[in-house]
Amino acid sequence: MENAEFRRHRRLRRTAGIRSSVRETHLRTEDFIYPLFVVEGKNVKNEVASMPGVYHRSLDLLNGEVDEAVERGIQSIILFGLPDEKDDVGSCAYDTNGIVQRATRQIKASHPELTVIADTCLCQFTDHGHCGVVEDGNILNDESLALLAKTAVSQAEAGADIIAPSNMMDGFVSAIRAGLDQAGYEDIPIMSYAVKYASAFYGPFRDAANSSPKSGDRKTYQMDPANRREAFREAQSDVDEGADFLIVKPALSYLDIIRDIRDRHDLPIVAYNVSGEYAMVKAAAQNGWIDEKEVVLEKLTSMKRAGADMILTYFAKDAAAWLNESN
Ligand code: PBG
Repeated sequence: MENAEFRRHRRLRRTAGIRSSVRETHLRTEDFIYPLFVVEGKNVKNEVASMPGVYHRSLDLLNGEVDEAVERGIQSIILFGLPDEKDDVGSCAYDTNGIVQRATRQIKASHPELTVIADTCLCQFTDHGHCGVVEDGNILNDESLALLAKTAVSQAEAGADIIAPSNMMDGFVSAIRAGLDQAGYEDIPIMSYAVKYASAFYGPFRDAANSSPKSGDRKTYQMDPANRREAFREAQSDVDEGADFLIVKPALSYLDIIRDIRDRHDLPIVAYNVSGEYAMVKAAAQNGWIDEKEVVLEKLTSMKRAGADMILTYFAKDAAAWLNESN
């Protein structure tokens, strides 16, 4: 007889089979977007000090890594380029022979079925390290848009399947959409970094991408971590401007925002599990303080549970291997 005093929730946890049947959230290797850092030169494979397991690779050493990711079931990668030369307008970002453009052509030639996403920003390519044009210490909004559109078009020309603008200038989605359409790339989607906070969790990435601002910070264009309603406005304007995906970044301290955006919009949502979130897990795991595999899979699951469809994560290749083990 049912005891009316309390519910026996543990019945559904009694065996591994029952637990797996009632599991509500599932990670798949297809959910992951795997970031790769590409550099000029030959025979370069340098580990990023603050991101163990993440490397700068020259193009001659890139294919092996891509092959491995694809073998594990990864369907999408995102490219971050480190140019040899920087100037005040980030010319290498929109150079037909820029590092990202060449990497894209090379990867699409060997893996036409792989989704290659191009991060569209200027900060890795500008000598001042800001994501737009700078004048008297101000980051100029409208003047930066033309350069971003140019960058996106050159990435699409090189074969990028998705354009992912991360610069946080106002109007970047409509400027890039117009640029792509005019150049005949109306079929190339925009994965907008719609909700991007001015976060301290980007520290290791800036070491990796050599993209710290030389002066000032990014607080006039990235969002205040204290704000929630502002995220709704940012996401809404990107939807209105024609974004095809919405990124929320970072992920872990912003799971509430992922849920909010999921509840308000029907576009696919991408959680960006950023460099600092990666570095903390790596550091703790290297000290033997946590179980890396269990912690990573739990974290990634929490992002999907919060409402993300896809996860951009430096753990993608490892996580794919772990998922394959358990299948
Ligand atoms: C900027 C950009 C950033 C990251 C990727 N592209 C942030 C920034 O430097 O402001 C951070 C990613 C990470 O921390 O993993 N264009």
